Amino acid sequence: MFISRVACVVLLISLSVHLSAAQATLLDCLNATNATVIDQSSPAYSTQRLVANQRINRTPAAIALPNSAQAVSEIVLCCRKFNVSAVPRSGGHSYEGYSVADNSVVVDMTQGFNFYEPQGDTTAWAGSGIRLGSLYYEAWKEGGEVFPGGTCPDVGLSGLLLGAKGGGGGNFGIVTRMHLQMYPQPNTTTLIYLEWPASEAVQVMQLWQAWAPTAPDAMTSNLQMAQYGVQMHGLYSGPMSEANALLQASGLLNVSGIQYKQYNEQPFIQSALDFGAETTGISTSSPINLMLGPNVTEWHNSWKAGSYDVPTALNSTVLNLMQQAVNQNSNGWIQFSAYGGQISRVPSTASAYAGRYSLYNIQYSIGWQNPSDTQPSMAWFAQLQQTLNPYMVNSAYVNYIDNSLQNWETAYYGDNLQRLQTVKQTWDPTNFWNNPQTIPLP
Ligand SMILES: *[C@@H]1O[C@H](CO)[C@@H](O)[C@H](O)[C@H]1NC(C)=O
Ligand SMILES: *[C@@H]1O[C@H](CO)[C@@H](O)[C@H](O)[C@H]1NC(C)=O
Ligand SMILES: *[C@@H]1O[C@H](CO)[C@@H](O)[C@H](O)[C@H]1NC(C)=O
Ligand SMILES: *[C@@H]1O[C@H](CO)[C@@H](O)[C@H](O)[C@H]1NC(C)=O
Ligand SMILES: *[C@@H]1O[C@H](CO)[C@@H](O)[C@H](O)[C@H]1NC(C)=O
Ligand SMILES: *[C@@H]1O[C@H](CO)[C@@H](O)[C@H](O)[C@H]1NC(C)=O
Ligand SMILES: *[C@@H]1O[C@H](CO)[C@@H](O)[C@H](O)[C@H]1NC(C)=O
Repeated sequence: MFISRVACVVLLISLSVHLSAAQATLLDCLNATNATVIDQSSPAYSTQRLVANQRINRTPAAIALPNSAQAVSEIVLCCRKFNVSAVPRSGGHSYEGYSVADNSVVVDMTQGFNFYEPQGDTTAWAGSGIRLGSLYYEAWKEGGEVFPGGTCPDVGLSGLLLGAKGGGGGNFGIVTRMHLQMYPQPNTTTLIYLEWPASEAVQVMQLWQAWAPTAPDAMTSNLQMAQYGVQMHGLYSGPMSEANALLQASGLLNVSGIQYKQYNEQPFIQSALDFGAETTGISTSSPINLMLGPNVTEWHNSWKAGSYDVPTALNSTVLNLMQQAVNQNSNGWIQFSAYGGQISRVPSTASAYAGRYSLYNIQYSIGWQNPSDTQPSMAWFAQLQQTLNPYMVNSAYVNYIDNSLQNWETAYYGDNLQRLQTVKQTWDPTNFWNNPQTIPLP
């Protein structure tokens, strides 16, 4: 369930900006722009260089916070002049921390481009620095419109959209704002939590994968296998009675040993808050907490994740391997997110993301806080990847970007890769915009 229309304003480099000869260093040059500049001597540097995933530990030359497209342009020209990378950052949630690089200038959009402007029709302009939680909150405050995005409030809108729609993510330039199609708030929503013991994981998963991808558009759900059990989280746009009838028909409620079952019929904004609380621990007491999100500086979360698109149902052999893997480490989990619905109605060649035809996406992940857990966690991840690869197709979701993925170009973009490479050649023939997994030149 993503977006029906996004117009992206891609920054074109203005050649009319003249840099004075007095700007002897990169910092002089940045200082002459209208952006706030945090260099390595600034007190804010130690927190501003961080991204959400604290596994990433990089030291950029500076962080620049522009408040106009003109300032963005000037920053990029400084980077070109002094031959350093410019790295756009919005949510700072790239799984491999690709919004910060050593010796680069991070162009942080979160202060100057954190806006939401309803247009009086059914559309709104959103700045590329806005996070999903802020977008949900602002849209609710402005009159209750909704936008179908993700469940994590701290994820940046532009990273999410460009992964799905346009192959953005630092490939071609810096987006400053996006034109969004908004939707009327559902009359009510039903938030669904179900949980079974781990011993039922394979049976639950078999029922879920036969049901969730073809469930009505109003129902979306994901399933999570972990050592403690198997959980389903769902959101239904409608009343509890209808949600329950759909779940009854799926057979899921007949699986023995169900240890938790809760339906909350409530406004959309409360469901968005509850999902946010689940992923980030924010308080569900007020919608404004969606906007505030977690304080990533205090969060200290590290994680490693990868993904697979799944075009045909997995059999019990594969599901048992997954179940065994999550049983081995209490920090690991495997999440299955249903596709179908509007995702599958958009042709795979209509946007950058090629995996739309899938039944669902698997995200396999491990999270930790203590640095001594890094090595065993990364080893668990690598082992699971090696175990699953033979059963999976070469297709993955770029927003769960993974530097250990083999053949990542075709996995992320499939048959769209060649077209994207042509775009790259046209707009960035010197590969100025690059990280380890940006679209390569043809
Ligand atoms: C930036 O420029 C201002 C004057 O506009 C100056 O006071 C300040 O020292 C400069 N900062 C750096 C880091 O050069
Ligand atoms: C520079 O930034 C300030 C706010 O930080 C803003 O008021 C001003 O209009 C900006 N100037 C230009 C030329 O963009
Ligand atoms: C720019 O930097 C890259 C590596 O950071 C280097 O390979 C290249 O030679 C540099 N170009 C110039 C013109 O200095
Ligand atoms: C939502 O409520 C309005 C007003 O009661 C009603 O006209 C509309 O049909 C409802 N929509 C749905 C999808 O139930
Ligand atoms: C679930 O169990 C009930 C009661 O035993 C039965 O009537 C129903 O057919 C079952 N539903 C499915 C989908 O298997
Ligand atoms: C986040 O936490 C850090 C460290 O405790 C603190 O300095 C900073 O002010 C906090 N930021 C916000 C927005 O609360
Ligand atoms: C499950 O599927 C895999 C191929 O994906 C196959 O190798 C295996 O034999 C199948 N197992 C069963 C029980 O059908």
